[in-house]
Amino acid sequence: MENILITGGAGYIGSHTAVALVEAGYQPIIVDDFSNSEKNVLEGLSKITGLSIPCYEGDCNDRSLLEKIFSEHALTGVIHFAAYKAVGESTQKPLKYYGNNIFSLVVLLETMEKFGVENLVFSSSCTVYGQPDELPVKESTPRKVAESPYGNTKKICEDILVDQVKSEAKLAAIALRYFNPIGAHPSSHIGELPLGVPSNLVPFVTQTGLGIRKELTVFGDDYNTPDGSCVRDYIHVMDLAEAHVKAISYLRGKNAPFYDLFNVGTGTGNTVLEVIQAFEKVSKQALNYKIGPRRPGDVEKVWADTEKITRELDWHPKYTLEDSLRDSWNWQLALSKNPA
Ligand SMILES: NC(=O)c1ccc[n+]([C@@H]2O[C@H](COP(=O)([O-])OP(=O)(O)OC[C@H]3O[C@@H](n4cnc5c(N)ncnc54)[C@H](O)[C@@H]3O)[C@@H](O)[C@H]2O)c1
Repeated sequence: MENILITGGAGYIGSHTAVALVEAGYQPIIVDDFSNSEKNVLEGLSKITGLSIPCYEGDCNDRSLLEKIFSEHALTGVIHFAAYKAVGESTQKPLKYYGNNIFSLVVLLETMEKFGVENLVFSSSCTVYGQPDELPVKESTPRKVAESPYGNTKKICEDILVDQVKSEAKLAAIALRYFNPIGAHPSSHIGELPLGVPSNLVPFVTQTGLGIRKELTVFGDDYNTPDGSCVRDYIHVMDLAEAHVKAISYLRGKNAPFYDLFNVGTGTGNTVLEVIQAFEKVSKQALNYKIGPRRPGDVEKVWADTEKITRELDWHPKYTLEDSLRDSWNWQLALSKNPA
């Protein structure tokens, strides 16, 4: 079995990718400092896969830890999820975000070079597009000035990869620009674990559905969209996980130096009110929500052009918006019985 290191593998997207890697015949190895995840994720993973996935607890900025992992395992590739991701907090504590998100990539790349590991998949974000001038947004669409230090770290990390590949380093890298990941593993053994008040829509919806939050506020209903609420491209986290497996497999057929990037979305935009309706349908209950003013910094509408990832990686999303909301809801119900 080929070993794939997943940094931040106990987190939301990393844990689902661990499952997809096992299903595809890879051996994932996790490194995570649990700064934004819980250790019982590992139990969830073993319930789903029947395996005990090796996990190193520690910080990816810790060079000696990475060197220990690289010397203990022959790695085919690395998927680098580890990062801080709270957009709002990044505006309050920019150095925390620049420090973790950028230096962890640099230390990882240096370690990969030292140990001759060439293949890297990096977690980027559609946030690099800002409000694009044309929709759906293509990979060739120019990036906009980042709206937050978090978004800027994603741009800078993409640039680091480009420069490293240009330098003729032995690196074959793919940046995946995720749109809006939602949903959970259909078993409800793993899912998203937002700390505190969720800043993403779907965890707020499911927590409101359960009464943990009193009411959901829809930020604006006067945008230039079909029902006036913002439009996003919501992708099931298992479809997103599968894109990482495709990317890692694709890199094995490429010779370093190599770099490419792909959008990972469904190719369809849905409004906030459509998400609420889908939730009400799958949960068979009305959601308590109100319309509020626009939230500063929100992009009006964005969804992905997925032609490139379909053509090059043969990747196709399988889950619908309702599937995603159903899995998120079941995960929320499971969490309420067994809190993390
Ligand atoms: N969830 C989204 O909406 C979204 C959208 C676009 C891009 N991304 C990116 O995808 C990646 C994964 O996101 P997620 O939603 O799974 O986030 P997450 O917070 O659930 O997972 C990240 C994991 O990395 C760990 N971590 C953070 N810094 C670390 C460090 N220095 N060393 C070791 N572990 C560390 C955290 O404990 C956590 O388990 C991130 O890079 C994020 O920026 C996420």
